Amino acid sequence: MSDQKPSDSLEELRDAIDRVDAELIRLFAQRMELARRVGAYKKERNLPVLDPERERRLIASRVAQAGDPGLAGPVAELFETLMRLSREAQAAVVAMVAPRHIYLIGMPGSGKSTLGQALAASLSLPFADMDARIETLAAMPIARIFAESGEQAFRRLESEALAQCAHGPPQVVATGGGAVLCEANVALMRATGTVLWVDRPLDQILGDLRQDTRPLLAGDAAERLRALYAEREALYRAAAHCRLDNSGALAHTVQRALALLKGEPHEKQIGTDVP
Ligand code: S3P
Repeated sequence: MSDQKPSDSLEELRDAIDRVDAELIRLFAQRMELARRVGAYKKERNLPVLDPERERRLIASRVAQAGDPGLAGPVAELFETLMRLSREAQAAVVAMVAPRHIYLIGMPGSGKSTLGQALAASLSLPFADMDARIETLAAMPIARIFAESGEQAFRRLESEALAQCAHGPPQVVATGGGAVLCEANVALMRATGTVLWVDRPLDQILGDLRQDTRPLLAGDAAERLRALYAEREALYRAAAHCRLDNSGALAHTVQRALALLKGEPHEKQIGTDVP
């Protein structure tokens, strides 16, 4: 070194730093990729991204690893930054909404269509209303399909319309209240998307239900609705990934649905009784 010109030596040193930096960049990219995988693991198991106690332990262990007391401050600073970047990368993965369908299931009048339209707008996804699709397929209103061809024929059309939606691009789908009666429909929904059970107190449903378009509620609507709920509650529960209480304001329900879909751990618990 001593026989080299200072400028040559500086060149060499800079080259050496370049090589170290190249290696650092390679290792940093590797570390960030691992952070994203940790994010995916946490998302799947609903674990929080931030674990301050672990971060404190990790920084202390890296400082100890460095050995040189003169490096303690810089190493701590370096790992604080690395940890922040890792946390951000994890959070980005956790917040990612998978490009799959979002199916809304639940009783007639539970607010699936209204909520579905609002959710679709918030997520910039198309919205599909199964009942409307069925009416298009059959070229007649639902009440007439029931009257002229019977419920079984209606259910076949319902499964056909659902399959069309499922095989299309990601969208928010408001299903008819009886879509869960068919096991194949449930399996298809669960395989191709996230299924949210929109649950609303029956008294509220009865308060603003228009019966004219719902043949299954003909007669004593209150009695029919209660009977349907008794028959279907377990089916909705089993079909759904999460239950979404829809007894409050629409904006509030939309907000919670979005949080649920982004997998925020706190919000996941909204569906208390749904695994
Ligand atoms: C039905 C619900 C209706 C419609 C049809 C049958 C049901 O849809 O598909 O009248 O079996 O609960 P909504 O839930 O949108 O009313």
